[in-house]
Amino acid sequence: MPEDFASRAALWLDELGAITDEPGGLTRTFLSPAQARAKALVSVWLQEAGLEIYEDLAGNLIGRLASVNPDAKTVACGSHIDTVRNAGQYDGAVGIVTAVLAASALKGQPLPYHLEVVAFSDEEGVRFQSTYLGSKYYAGQLTGAELAARDADGVSVQEAMAAHRPAFPLPPPRELLAYVEAHIEQGPVLEKEALALGVVTAIAGQTRARIFIEGKAGHAGTTPMNLRRDALAGAAECVLTIEQYATAMPALVATVGDLRIPSPASNVIPGSVEFTLDVRDADEEVRRNFCARITSELQTQMSKRGLGIRIEILQEGAPVNCSAPLTSALESLVFQYQERCPRLVSGAGHDAVALAGIAEVAMLFIRCRDGLSHHPDEYATPEDIGLAAQVLAKFFSGFQKP
Ligand code: GLV
Ligand code: MN
Ligand code: MN
Repeated sequence: MPEDFASRAALWLDELGAITDEPGGLTRTFLSPAQARAKALVSVWLQEAGLEIYEDLAGNLIGRLASVNPDAKTVACGSHIDTVRNAGQYDGAVGIVTAVLAASALKGQPLPYHLEVVAFSDEEGVRFQSTYLGSKYYAGQLTGAELAARDADGVSVQEAMAAHRPAFPLPPPRELLAYVEAHIEQGPVLEKEALALGVVTAIAGQTRARIFIEGKAGHAGTTPMNLRRDALAGAAECVLTIEQYATAMPALVATVGDLRIPSPASNVIPGSVEFTLDVRDADEEVRRNFCARITSELQTQMSKRGLGIRIEILQEGAPVNCSAPLTSALESLVFQYQERCPRLVSGAGHDAVALAGIAEVAMLFIRCRDGLSHHPDEYATPEDIGLAAQVLAKFFSGFQKP
Protein backbone atom coordinates (compact mmCIF):
# COMPACT_ATOMS: atom_id res chain seq x y z
CA MET A 1 0.00 0.00 0.00
CA PRO A 2 1.47 3.40 -0.95
CA GLU A 3 3.26 5.00 2.00
CA ASP A 4 2.82 8.53 0.72
CA PHE A 5 -0.99 8.76 1.03
CA ALA A 6 -0.71 11.10 4.04
CA SER A 7 1.68 13.56 2.43
CA ARG A 8 -0.20 13.58 -0.87
CA ALA A 9 -3.48 14.14 0.94
CA ALA A 10 -2.05 17.09 2.88
CA LEU A 11 -0.64 18.70 -0.25
CA TRP A 12 -3.83 18.22 -2.28
CA LEU A 13 -6.11 19.47 0.50
CA ASP A 14 -4.06 22.66 0.82
CA GLU A 15 -4.17 23.18 -2.95
CA LEU A 16 -7.91 22.56 -3.14
CA GLY A 17 -8.57 24.66 -0.03
CA ALA A 18 -6.96 27.68 -1.70
CA ILE A 19 -9.54 27.72 -4.52
CA THR A 20 -12.35 30.03 -3.49
CA ASP A 21 -14.99 32.35 -4.92
CA GLU A 22 -14.53 34.82 -2.06
CA PRO A 23 -10.95 35.77 -1.19
CA GLY A 24 -10.23 35.82 2.54
CA GLY A 25 -12.16 32.62 3.23
CA LEU A 26 -13.07 29.38 1.49
CA THR A 27 -16.41 29.52 -0.34
CA ARG A 28 -17.17 27.35 -3.38
CA THR A 29 -20.76 27.00 -4.44
CA PHE A 30 -22.70 25.04 -7.07
CA LEU A 31 -21.33 25.70 -10.59
CA SER A 32 -19.34 28.77 -9.51
CA PRO A 33 -16.09 29.83 -11.23
CA ALA A 34 -14.04 28.57 -8.25
CA GLN A 35 -15.82 25.23 -8.47
CA ALA A 36 -14.75 24.93 -12.12
CA ARG A 37 -11.12 25.68 -11.15
CA ALA A 38 -11.29 23.14 -8.30
CA LYS A 39 -12.59 20.47 -10.68
CA ALA A 40 -9.80 21.25 -13.15
CA LEU A 41 -7.30 20.51 -10.36
CA VAL A 42 -9.03 17.29 -9.29
CA SER A 43 -9.19 16.15 -12.92
CA VAL A 44 -5.37 16.35 -13.08
CA TRP A 45 -5.07 14.05 -10.03
CA LEU A 46 -7.63 11.68 -11.54
CA GLN A 47 -5.81 11.54 -14.86
CA GLU A 48 -2.49 10.91 -13.11
CA ALA A 49 -4.19 8.06 -11.23
CA GLY A 50 -5.13 6.54 -14.59
CA LEU A 51 -8.87 7.30 -14.59
CA GLU A 52 -10.93 8.51 -17.57
CA ILE A 53 -12.57 11.87 -16.88
CA TYR A 54 -16.20 12.85 -17.41
CA GLU A 55 -18.45 15.67 -16.27
CA ASP A 56 -22.23 15.52 -16.23
CA LEU A 57 -24.78 18.27 -16.84
CA ALA A 58 -25.06 19.05 -13.12
CA GLY A 59 -21.31 19.65 -12.94
CA ASN A 60 -20.39 16.42 -11.16
CA LEU A 61 -16.79 15.51 -12.05
CA ILE A 62 -16.35 11.77 -12.53
CA GLY A 63 -13.14 9.74 -12.83
CA ARG A 64 -13.78 6.22 -14.10
CA LEU A 65 -11.77 3.01 -13.99
CA ALA A 66 -13.52 0.62 -16.35
CA SER A 67 -14.08 -2.99 -15.36
CA VAL A 68 -12.69 -5.92 -17.34
CA ASN A 69 -16.39 -6.78 -17.77
CA PRO A 70 -18.15 -4.10 -19.86
CA ASP A 71 -21.55 -5.17 -18.47
CA ALA A 72 -20.43 -4.79 -14.87
CA LYS A 73 -22.21 -2.52 -12.41
CA THR A 74 -20.57 0.52 -10.85
CA VAL A 75 -19.16 1.21 -7.41
CA ALA A 76 -18.82 4.92 -6.66
CA CYS A 77 -16.73 6.71 -4.09
CA GLY A 78 -16.25 10.41 -3.40
CA SER A 79 -17.85 13.40 -1.77
CA HIS A 80 -18.74 17.03 -2.50
CA ILE A 81 -16.54 19.77 -3.91
CA ASP A 82 -18.85 22.60 -2.89
CA THR A 83 -18.48 24.23 0.52
CA VAL A 84 -20.41 26.34 2.98
CA ARG A 85 -19.46 30.04 3.27
CA ASN A 86 -16.13 30.62 4.99
CA ALA A 87 -15.65 26.86 5.19
CA GLY A 88 -12.87 24.59 6.35
CA GLN A 89 -10.89 22.71 3.73
CA TYR A 90 -11.76 19.15 4.84
CA ASP A 91 -15.57 18.85 4.66
CA GLY A 92 -16.22 17.10 1.34
CA ALA A 93 -12.68 17.54 0.01
CA VAL A 94 -11.38 14.70 2.21
CA GLY A 95 -13.81 12.27 0.59
CA ILE A 96 -12.61 13.25 -2.88
CA VAL A 97 -8.90 13.16 -2.04
CA THR A 98 -9.10 9.78 -0.27
CA ALA A 99 -11.11 8.33 -3.17
CA VAL A 100 -8.52 9.48 -5.73
CA LEU A 101 -5.67 8.08 -3.61
CA ALA A 102 -7.46 4.76 -3.16
CA ALA A 103 -8.20 4.55 -6.90
CA SER A 104 -4.55 5.31 -7.70
CA ALA A 105 -3.58 2.15 -5.79
CA LEU A 106 -5.76 0.06 -8.13
CA LYS A 107 -3.83 1.00 -11.28
CA GLY A 108 -3.33 -2.06 -13.48
CA GLN A 109 -5.57 -4.25 -11.32
CA PRO A 110 -8.43 -5.94 -13.24
CA LEU A 111 -11.69 -4.82 -11.61
CA PRO A 112 -14.90 -6.89 -11.53
CA TYR A 113 -16.89 -3.61 -11.33
CA HIS A 114 -16.54 -0.13 -12.82
CA LEU A 115 -15.17 2.29 -10.25
CA GLU A 116 -16.27 5.93 -10.32
CA VAL A 117 -14.58 8.58 -8.20
CA VAL A 118 -17.01 11.47 -7.99
CA ALA A 119 -16.62 15.11 -6.94
CA PHE A 120 -20.24 16.12 -6.44
CA SER A 121 -21.08 19.69 -7.42
CA ASP A 122 -23.55 20.38 -4.62
CA GLU A 123 -24.15 18.86 -1.23
CA GLU A 124 -24.24 21.92 1.01
CA GLY A 125 -27.05 23.70 -0.80
CA VAL A 126 -25.66 27.18 -0.17
CA ARG A 127 -26.69 28.63 -3.52
CA PHE A 128 -30.24 27.23 -3.75
CA GLN A 129 -31.00 26.39 -0.10
CA SER A 130 -31.66 22.85 -1.29
CA THR A 131 -29.11 20.17 -0.52
CA TYR A 132 -27.63 17.36 -2.63
CA LEU A 133 -28.31 18.87 -6.08
CA GLY A 134 -25.16 17.23 -7.48
CA SER A 135 -25.55 13.82 -5.87
CA LYS A 136 -29.30 13.72 -6.56
CA TYR A 137 -28.67 14.42 -10.24
CA TYR A 138 -26.02 11.67 -10.30
CA ALA A 139 -28.59 9.33 -8.75
CA GLY A 140 -31.28 10.41 -11.26
CA GLN A 141 -33.38 11.66 -8.36
CA LEU A 142 -33.55 15.42 -8.92
CA THR A 143 -37.21 16.52 -8.79
CA GLY A 144 -39.05 19.17 -10.82
CA ALA A 145 -39.44 21.28 -7.68
CA GLU A 146 -35.69 21.16 -7.08
CA LEU A 147 -34.97 22.15 -10.70
CA ALA A 148 -37.33 25.11 -10.29
CA ALA A 149 -35.66 26.46 -7.11
CA ARG A 150 -34.10 29.89 -7.60
CA ASP A 151 -30.95 31.45 -6.20
CA ALA A 152 -30.62 34.99 -4.80
CA ASP A 153 -30.26 36.33 -8.38
CA GLY A 154 -33.45 34.64 -9.54
CA VAL A 155 -31.63 31.97 -11.60
CA SER A 156 -33.25 28.53 -11.38
CA VAL A 157 -31.33 25.27 -10.96
CA GLN A 158 -32.50 24.27 -14.43
CA GLU A 159 -31.24 27.55 -15.94
CA ALA A 160 -27.90 27.26 -14.10
CA MET A 161 -27.48 23.72 -15.43
CA ALA A 162 -28.42 24.75 -18.98
CA ALA A 163 -25.81 27.53 -18.87
CA HIS A 164 -23.14 25.12 -17.58
CA ARG A 165 -20.78 23.76 -20.23
CA PRO A 166 -19.16 20.51 -19.01
CA ALA A 167 -15.37 20.61 -19.42
CA PHE A 168 -15.23 16.85 -20.17
CA PRO A 169 -17.41 14.34 -22.08
CA LEU A 170 -20.68 13.19 -20.52
CA PRO A 171 -20.30 9.92 -18.59
CA PRO A 172 -21.58 6.61 -19.97
CA PRO A 173 -24.76 5.24 -18.36
CA ARG A 174 -24.21 3.25 -15.19
CA GLU A 175 -26.07 0.92 -12.85
CA LEU A 176 -24.91 1.78 -9.38
CA LEU A 177 -24.21 -1.10 -7.01
CA ALA A 178 -22.68 0.69 -4.05
CA TYR A 179 -21.44 4.07 -2.86
CA VAL A 180 -18.75 4.56 -0.23
CA GLU A 181 -17.75 7.92 1.22
CA ALA A 182 -15.03 8.98 3.60
CA HIS A 183 -15.74 12.18 5.53
CA ILE A 184 -14.49 14.00 8.58
CA GLU A 185 -16.65 13.13 11.58
CA GLN A 186 -17.70 16.76 12.18
CA GLY A 187 -18.23 15.74 15.80
CA PRO A 188 -16.10 14.96 18.87
CA VAL A 189 -16.48 11.20 19.44
CA LEU A 190 -13.43 9.82 17.62
CA GLU A 191 -11.14 12.47 19.08
CA LYS A 192 -12.47 11.74 22.57
CA GLU A 193 -11.83 8.02 22.07
CA ALA A 194 -8.38 8.69 20.59
CA LEU A 195 -9.24 6.75 17.43
CA ALA A 196 -8.52 7.79 13.85
CA LEU A 197 -11.49 6.13 12.16
CA GLY A 198 -15.06 5.00 12.70
CA VAL A 199 -17.93 3.76 10.57
CA VAL A 200 -21.42 5.19 10.13
CA THR A 201 -24.56 3.19 10.77
CA ALA A 202 -27.15 5.83 9.88
CA ILE A 203 -27.50 9.44 8.76
CA ALA A 204 -30.05 11.66 10.52
CA GLY A 205 -33.11 12.89 8.65
CA GLN A 206 -33.59 16.62 8.18
CA THR A 207 -36.36 19.14 7.76
CA ARG A 208 -35.39 22.48 6.25
CA ALA A 209 -37.87 25.33 6.21
CA ARG A 210 -38.08 29.05 5.57
CA ILE A 211 -40.24 31.00 8.00
CA PHE A 212 -41.78 34.38 7.19
CA ILE A 213 -42.95 36.73 9.95
CA GLU A 214 -45.24 39.56 8.88
CA GLY A 215 -45.77 42.65 11.02
CA LYS A 216 -46.01 46.34 10.15
CA ALA A 217 -43.17 48.69 9.40
CA GLY A 218 -43.32 52.02 11.16
CA HIS A 219 -41.40 54.99 12.47
CA ALA A 220 -38.89 54.03 15.17
CA GLY A 221 -39.22 57.40 16.88
CA THR A 222 -42.97 57.95 16.90
CA THR A 223 -44.62 54.52 17.34
CA PRO A 224 -45.20 53.69 21.03
CA MET A 225 -43.92 50.28 22.11
CA ASN A 226 -47.40 48.91 22.86
CA LEU A 227 -48.68 49.78 19.36
CA ARG A 228 -45.95 48.05 17.40
CA ARG A 229 -46.13 44.89 15.32
CA ASP A 230 -42.38 44.30 15.20
CA ALA A 231 -41.54 41.29 13.00
CA LEU A 232 -37.98 41.09 14.28
CA ALA A 233 -39.04 40.97 17.93
CA GLY A 234 -41.43 38.15 16.90
CA ALA A 235 -38.66 36.33 15.03
CA ALA A 236 -36.42 36.66 18.09
CA GLU A 237 -39.10 34.96 20.18
CA CYS A 238 -39.35 32.20 17.55
CA VAL A 239 -35.58 31.60 17.61
CA LEU A 240 -35.53 31.30 21.39
CA THR A 241 -38.58 29.00 21.42
CA ILE A 242 -36.96 26.74 18.84
CA GLU A 243 -33.81 26.62 20.97
CA GLN A 244 -35.76 25.91 24.15
CA TYR A 245 -37.84 23.10 22.61
CA ALA A 246 -34.83 21.47 20.94
CA THR A 247 -32.74 21.66 24.11
CA ALA A 248 -35.41 19.64 25.90
CA MET A 249 -35.03 16.78 23.38
CA PRO A 250 -32.46 14.00 23.95
CA ALA A 251 -30.77 14.00 20.53
CA LEU A 252 -32.66 16.30 18.19
CA VAL A 253 -30.92 19.47 17.00
CA ALA A 254 -32.53 22.59 15.53
CA THR A 255 -30.80 25.63 14.06
CA VAL A 256 -31.79 29.03 12.73
CA GLY A 257 -28.81 29.75 10.48
CA ASP A 258 -29.94 32.59 8.23
CA LEU A 259 -32.15 35.50 9.31
CA ARG A 260 -32.93 38.51 7.14
CA ILE A 261 -34.81 41.78 7.40
CA PRO A 262 -35.73 42.45 3.74
CA SER A 263 -35.73 46.27 4.19
CA PRO A 264 -33.43 46.97 7.11
CA ALA A 265 -32.97 50.46 8.53
CA SER A 266 -31.99 51.59 12.02
CA ASN A 267 -34.95 53.98 12.31
CA VAL A 268 -37.67 51.68 10.93
CA ILE A 269 -39.55 49.02 12.92
CA PRO A 270 -38.99 45.80 10.94
CA GLY A 271 -42.21 45.01 9.06
CA SER A 272 -41.15 41.59 7.87
CA VAL A 273 -38.43 39.07 8.64
CA GLU A 274 -37.57 35.70 7.19
CA PHE A 275 -35.36 33.00 8.62
CA THR A 276 -34.37 29.41 7.95
CA LEU A 277 -34.94 26.43 10.23
CA ASP A 278 -32.92 23.19 10.10
CA VAL A 279 -34.13 20.28 12.26
CA ARG A 280 -32.37 16.90 12.51
CA ASP A 281 -32.85 13.59 14.27
CA ALA A 282 -32.08 9.97 13.41
CA ASP A 283 -35.71 9.09 14.27
CA GLU A 284 -38.21 10.16 11.61
CA GLU A 285 -41.17 10.26 13.98
CA VAL A 286 -39.34 12.29 16.61
CA ARG A 287 -38.36 14.90 14.00
CA ARG A 288 -41.84 15.11 12.49
CA ASN A 289 -43.52 15.43 15.90
CA PHE A 290 -41.08 18.15 16.89
CA CYS A 291 -41.82 20.09 13.69
CA ALA A 292 -45.57 19.81 14.28
CA ARG A 293 -45.23 21.01 17.91
CA ILE A 294 -42.95 23.89 17.04
CA THR A 295 -45.25 25.00 14.20
CA SER A 296 -48.24 25.19 16.49
CA GLU A 297 -46.31 26.94 19.28
CA LEU A 298 -44.84 29.58 16.95
CA GLN A 299 -48.28 30.22 15.42
CA THR A 300 -49.73 30.81 18.90
CA GLN A 301 -46.90 33.10 19.94
CA MET A 302 -47.01 35.19 16.77
CA SER A 303 -50.75 35.55 16.89
CA LYS A 304 -50.46 36.91 20.48
CA ARG A 305 -48.14 39.57 19.03
CA GLY A 306 -50.53 40.34 16.16
CA LEU A 307 -48.01 39.00 13.67
CA GLY A 308 -48.53 36.71 10.68
CA ILE A 309 -46.40 33.60 10.23
CA ARG A 310 -45.95 31.43 7.17
CA ILE A 311 -43.79 28.30 7.15
CA GLU A 312 -42.51 27.03 3.81
CA ILE A 313 -41.00 23.54 3.94
CA LEU A 314 -37.96 23.49 1.66
CA GLN A 315 -36.87 19.93 2.22
CA GLU A 316 -37.88 16.83 4.15
CA GLY A 317 -35.32 14.05 4.22
CA ALA A 318 -35.87 10.73 5.98
CA PRO A 319 -33.00 9.18 7.95
CA VAL A 320 -30.85 6.78 5.95
CA ASN A 321 -29.47 3.47 7.14
CA CYS A 322 -26.08 2.46 5.85
CA SER A 323 -25.65 -1.01 4.35
CA ALA A 324 -24.91 -3.54 7.13
CA PRO A 325 -22.60 -5.77 5.03
CA LEU A 326 -20.64 -2.86 3.54
CA THR A 327 -20.30 -1.21 6.93
CA SER A 328 -19.02 -4.47 8.44
CA ALA A 329 -16.55 -4.80 5.56
CA LEU A 330 -15.21 -1.28 6.24
CA GLU A 331 -15.15 -1.98 9.97
CA SER A 332 -13.09 -5.14 9.59
CA LEU A 333 -10.53 -3.15 7.57
CA VAL A 334 -10.45 -0.41 10.23
CA PHE A 335 -9.64 -3.13 12.79
CA GLN A 336 -6.36 -3.69 10.92
CA TYR A 337 -5.27 -0.24 12.13
CA GLN A 338 -6.94 0.24 15.52
CA GLU A 339 -8.35 -1.94 18.31
CA ARG A 340 -11.83 -0.50 18.32
CA CYS A 341 -14.04 0.94 15.60
CA PRO A 342 -16.87 3.15 16.83
CA ARG A 343 -20.19 2.84 15.02
CA LEU A 344 -21.60 6.36 14.73
CA VAL A 345 -24.83 8.05 13.65
CA SER A 346 -24.16 11.08 11.48
CA GLY A 347 -26.02 14.25 12.38
CA ALA A 348 -24.62 15.89 9.26
CA GLY A 349 -26.06 15.21 5.82
CA HIS A 350 -23.89 13.56 3.17
CA ASP A 351 -24.02 12.71 -0.53
CA ALA A 352 -24.57 9.13 0.63
CA VAL A 353 -28.13 10.19 1.54
CA ALA A 354 -28.90 11.08 -2.08
CA LEU A 355 -27.38 7.83 -3.35
CA ALA A 356 -29.11 5.62 -0.78
CA GLY A 357 -32.23 5.75 -2.97
CA ILE A 358 -30.51 3.71 -5.69
CA ALA A 359 -27.62 1.80 -4.09
CA GLU A 360 -26.17 0.36 -0.91
CA VAL A 361 -24.17 3.06 0.89
CA ALA A 362 -21.47 3.02 3.54
CA MET A 363 -19.37 5.70 5.21
CA LEU A 364 -16.04 5.96 6.93
CA PHE A 365 -15.55 8.75 9.46
CA ILE A 366 -12.20 10.41 10.13
CA ARG A 367 -11.33 12.07 13.44
CA CYS A 368 -11.27 15.88 13.26
CA ARG A 369 -9.85 18.38 15.71
CA ASP A 370 -12.28 19.51 18.42
CA GLY A 371 -15.08 17.94 16.36
CA LEU A 372 -15.14 21.26 14.53
CA SER A 373 -16.62 21.65 11.05
CA HIS A 374 -18.27 24.35 8.90
CA HIS A 375 -15.54 26.60 10.28
CA PRO A 376 -12.19 27.73 8.82
CA ASP A 377 -10.33 26.05 11.72
CA GLU A 378 -11.62 22.59 10.70
CA TYR A 379 -8.68 20.12 10.71
CA ALA A 380 -7.86 16.43 10.36
CA THR A 381 -4.30 15.08 10.38
CA PRO A 382 -2.69 13.85 7.16
CA GLU A 383 -1.98 10.54 8.94
CA ASP A 384 -5.66 9.92 9.75
CA ILE A 385 -6.68 10.89 6.22
CA GLY A 386 -3.97 8.64 4.79
CA LEU A 387 -5.31 5.73 6.87
CA ALA A 388 -8.81 6.33 5.53
CA ALA A 389 -7.43 6.21 1.97
CA GLN A 390 -5.71 2.91 2.78
CA VAL A 391 -8.95 1.45 4.13
CA LEU A 392 -10.78 2.55 0.96
CA ALA A 393 -8.05 1.06 -1.26
CA LYS A 394 -8.32 -2.30 0.54
CA PHE A 395 -12.10 -2.07 0.40
CA PHE A 396 -12.00 -1.64 -3.38
CA SER A 397 -9.48 -4.44 -3.85
CA GLY A 398 -11.65 -6.88 -1.95
CA PHE A 399 -15.07 -5.56 -2.91
CA GLN A 400 -17.73 -8.24 -3.12
CA LYS A 401 -21.30 -7.56 -4.08
CA PRO A 402 -23.32 -7.17 -0.83
C1 GLV B 1 -24.04 19.32 5.41
O1 GLV B 1 -22.91 19.61 5.70
C2 GLV B 1 -25.05 19.43 6.41
O2 GLV B 1 -25.56 20.53 6.59
O3 GLV B 1 -25.30 18.44 7.10
MN1 MN C 1 -20.85 20.38 5.22
MN1 MN D 1 -19.79 17.31 3.89
